[in-house]
Amino acid sequence: MALNEKEAAKRVTQLRREIEEHNQRYHEEALPTISDREFDQLLRDLSDLEKQFPNLATPDSPTQHVGGKPLKAFGQITHRAPMLSLDNTYSEEEVTDFYRRLERLLPNQKIPVVIEPKVDGVAVSLLYEKGALRYAATRGDGTVGDDITQNIRTIQSVPKRLKGDVPKLLEVRGEAYLDKRGFAKLNAERTKAGLPEFANPRNAAAGSLKQLDPAIAAQRPLGVVFYGAGSIEGVELEKHSKLFALLKKLGLPGSERWWLADSVEEILRAIHELDQVRRDFPYQTDGAVIKVDEFAQREILGFTAKSPRWAIAFKYAAERVETRLHDILIQVGRTGTLTPVAALEPVIVGGSRVARATLHNEEEIERKDIRIGDMVVVEKAGEVIPAVVGVRTDLRTGKEKKFRMPKHCPECGSEVVKDEGQVAVRCVNSQCPAQLRRRIEHFASRGAMDIEGLGEAIVSQLVELKLLRDIGDIYGLTAAALNDLERMGEKSVSNLLEAIERSKARLLWRLIFGLGILHVGVSASRALADHFLNLDAIIQSSVEELQRIPDVGEVVGQSIHDFFREPGNLELIEKLRRAGLRFESEEKKAVAAPGFNATTWVITGTLSQSRDEIAELILARGGKVSGSVSKKTSFVLAGEEAGSKLEKAKQLGVRILNETEFRKLLAAS
Ligand code: IVH
Repeated sequence: MALNEKEAAKRVTQLRREIEEHNQRYHEEALPTISDREFDQLLRDLSDLEKQFPNLATPDSPTQHVGGKPLKAFGQITHRAPMLSLDNTYSEEEVTDFYRRLERLLPNQKIPVVIEPKVDGVAVSLLYEKGALRYAATRGDGTVGDDITQNIRTIQSVPKRLKGDVPKLLEVRGEAYLDKRGFAKLNAERTKAGLPEFANPRNAAAGSLKQLDPAIAAQRPLGVVFYGAGSIEGVELEKHSKLFALLKKLGLPGSERWWLADSVEEILRAIHELDQVRRDFPYQTDGAVIKVDEFAQREILGFTAKSPRWAIAFKYAAERVETRLHDILIQVGRTGTLTPVAALEPVIVGGSRVARATLHNEEEIERKDIRIGDMVVVEKAGEVIPAVVGVRTDLRTGKEKKFRMPKHCPECGSEVVKDEGQVAVRCVNSQCPAQLRRRIEHFASRGAMDIEGLGEAIVSQLVELKLLRDIGDIYGLTAAALNDLERMGEKSVSNLLEAIERSKARLLWRLIFGLGILHVGVSASRALADHFLNLDAIIQSSVEELQRIPDVGEVVGQSIHDFFREPGNLELIEKLRRAGLRFESEEKKAVAAPGFNATTWVITGTLSQSRDEIAELILARGGKVSGSVSKKTSFVLAGEEAGSKLEKAKQLGVRILNETEFRKLLAAS
């Protein structure tokens, strides 16, 4: 279907919003709702439109950058060499095209390539100096990632010190994963504890690495497969295939299997062989990576904005099965969004039983021409949420029914609305019981206020019994009321009450996120807490002030402003205040300690405690911590082997303290 420029512009805006949303779910919340393939398809659609209508291309389009933003709760690490992503393909033809292009760019040369498994985990970068593990980081935005050293240190198979003849410096790249067995066990434990299951091992690994408490990461059976070097000093390597042996000698776990090839036929053969054996690997794989072996050739080939021209990832097709679509049900989300859900004849796909699949929205159903009663094609990649990807229109009998989004909310009967420029349809009745259940579940969820034990089943009963009419009622629950619920023993009741009590002290950003304000995700919640330092300041701020905050912007700023103009929401806030929830950011609670109050610090180099721990000490005394040195920096705390930040501090004449001097200052405060 050819679009005119105006239609294309609309579709481009919509695609960008969807992609950013999925990006945030994937990278920051580690809870994606669509399969990788669907995500890649969205990205491709967008990229095609941008090519077709170059006017619509913008430098900040998701086609131009990699993944998520680093999380702010962690210290930040700037990669020595950027961490790029790979071009993906699902077709053997494109693998052929890739090799033909190499032949064109490197005429009359042999071009050996390595084929290795694409591990479905989380990209990590570790820096070893003179053989000692200095730090570990996530990819982040490709340039700056989160400091996850503490969590990586808990992984037994990752050496803290390299073996043998160690290079002077090695920035080694790999994929952290949770092994398949450990994943199944972890999910079983989570179900027992009333926590939501992880959708797949990759999300579980991401969730584990993003734990601020390394003790939790330590309980997870994590591993790393190393597959590349960002930068390396003190060893000459002329090709990638030599890296495997080097990694082994150093004690770094590498790929289970790899192949060398120098023709399309051999490449395809290796891809097929890998597909035969990969199921026996301890970790999940979703494809093959094909990389030019010789570094001299890589240099000639170079990079595009996002990825190297010398490598490509071939992704194996997710498993697909056909089944009957019995009905399309409507689920009402916490912000009132009505989501159509496929009710399927149960089938086994991707190793698990599937009876439901998300259909996203009405436009999606129309685009795929899905009708009730159709035989549909369901896909499930790894452990990801299943999706309906196609329809067997050739099997139609004529009895299939077209789907229409209801005009009224199926839960409360109120009229639904479609916001200007949005795909989603919403129920705007804030009293709608379905929304209320979802809002409470969201508030109590691990990513928000983390009230263990307040899961779907309990919430549903409490809403039904009218014991919960809003989030605030959670803090009025009594043992007497809870004792009457189904499946609640004395122990569960007291555990739940304790969990509720504990949640009162959660950080401000969690409370903001927990309120479930339309469009306000984790990033925006953190940004609001950091900027305003207390909830009342947010409530009173003007819409312009909100919109000026990076990570907030126009739409989100308006939404926050609207939320706090609703009398019902303000009543809720007062209820939460009376219950004693924390309305202020950590910083505000800090005592103004001499030597620290109103100072700005930059922490660099190796110190006896992690940067996060030291930052806490400074914050608790009324200071601020920043990632980069500027004229506004009051002090640079420089540990051993501090690098560019120390240099910058010297240049700008910023005061530099070593750890001993810092400890003295601490003691004096
Ligand atoms: S090489 C510049 N090799 O896939 C190329 N990546 O889509 C750097 N991945 O960011 C990547 N297994 O997180 C490479 N054997 C492998 C891999 C692999 C998994 C991940 C990695 C990368 C992403 C690219």
